[in-house]
Amino acid sequence: MSNRQSKGNRQSEGSPRPTGNRRQVIPLDLGPDSYDITVSYGLRERLGDELSSWNNGQRWVVLSQPQILQHYQGVVDGLQNSGINLGVIEVPGDESAKNIAVAEKVWSEMVEMGCDRSSILLALGGGVVGDLGGFVAATYMRGITIIQVPTTLLAMIDSAIGGKTAVNLAAGKNLVGAIHQPGAVIIDPGFLATLPRRNVVSSLAEAVKYGFIRDRSIFDIFESRFEQLLELRDQALLTEIIVKSCRIKSRIVANDQFENGERRLLNYGHTIGHAFETLRDYGGLYHGEAVLFGMKCANYISHKKGLLSSQQYLSAQAVLDRFPLPELGQLSPQQVLDVVQHDKKNVNGKLNFILLEGIGNAVVSTDVSSDDIVDSLSVVNR
Ligand code: GLY
Repeated sequence: MSNRQSKGNRQSEGSPRPTGNRRQVIPLDLGPDSYDITVSYGLRERLGDELSSWNNGQRWVVLSQPQILQHYQGVVDGLQNSGINLGVIEVPGDESAKNIAVAEKVWSEMVEMGCDRSSILLALGGGVVGDLGGFVAATYMRGITIIQVPTTLLAMIDSAIGGKTAVNLAAGKNLVGAIHQPGAVIIDPGFLATLPRRNVVSSLAEAVKYGFIRDRSIFDIFESRFEQLLELRDQALLTEIIVKSCRIKSRIVANDQFENGERRLLNYGHTIGHAFETLRDYGGLYHGEAVLFGMKCANYISHKKGLLSSQQYLSAQAVLDRFPLPELGQLSPQQVLDVVQHDKKNVNGKLNFILLEGIGNAVVSTDVSSDDIVDSLSVVNR
């Protein structure tokens, strides 16, 4: 896969105080697989221009979902009007789309549409479309280019960046997949306007996570401008959070694409959070909400082990406590432990747990016991 075209479009990173619709470009350096993450309000209206350097007259496919096309058919029409020869494939509007049978259907439709090795798959949607689209692109004719156009906050700041692609098995989520980096990631925060507020607010969990693990300035924004941020109306502030988050994710992926070290830090809050999500049957609880609960537990353990001072612990929990969260209900500690111990991220049965050694500095610990995990549930089982 060549990313030559996207590099040609690269601009230097801007000042740290962005406005909403200034085009900002964050490079993700991965040698020949490098690409740019471009952020600006209004990009969806000029997507054809934005992608013109990718268009060689080849067949494109836009992968999306009915609820997205209901709002954004105009985006597809705009691409067509700009001369892109595209077909559209719709997949189910929920997690059930991340399935090998759906992937097979998409591969077959792409053959019928005349897609070949030069084709480009444009994933227009959230994490489901991005993960499925990435998997289909990684495997169709041994790999074609994918361009990620995320429409949810979770996808904008996390899943569309870094090349993780997957489908689910009955035995668990994301068990089959590949690392296949996109050719470009195009982020228009304007897409968030048509999402339910709970979806956007819960996804801010991944942004505050970047503050905890790597960038204290993100945490400071949550501490000082929490209400303003949760209103979701301040375009400049939302853009600032998105750009800062993308920068952190981009640096971590550039340093550790295959998750042998630093990339594991992104799992902060996810080990126990994933157990909550599983026990709530994926659905009752949004991913971001599960991670918020999981971060509370991880902070508790970090404090208990003396890595996080009492003052830092109280400020960290105070920010997390301000997020609107549903009732988690009473969870059986044994069930939580069972899920944590079966997490696919454990290697040779060893749990790699992410803790904080201060706000803005995460570390990998192999020293978290079952008792630590059970104790930490006291901060969420209330
Ligand atoms: N979402 C975590 C990662 O990309 O590594």
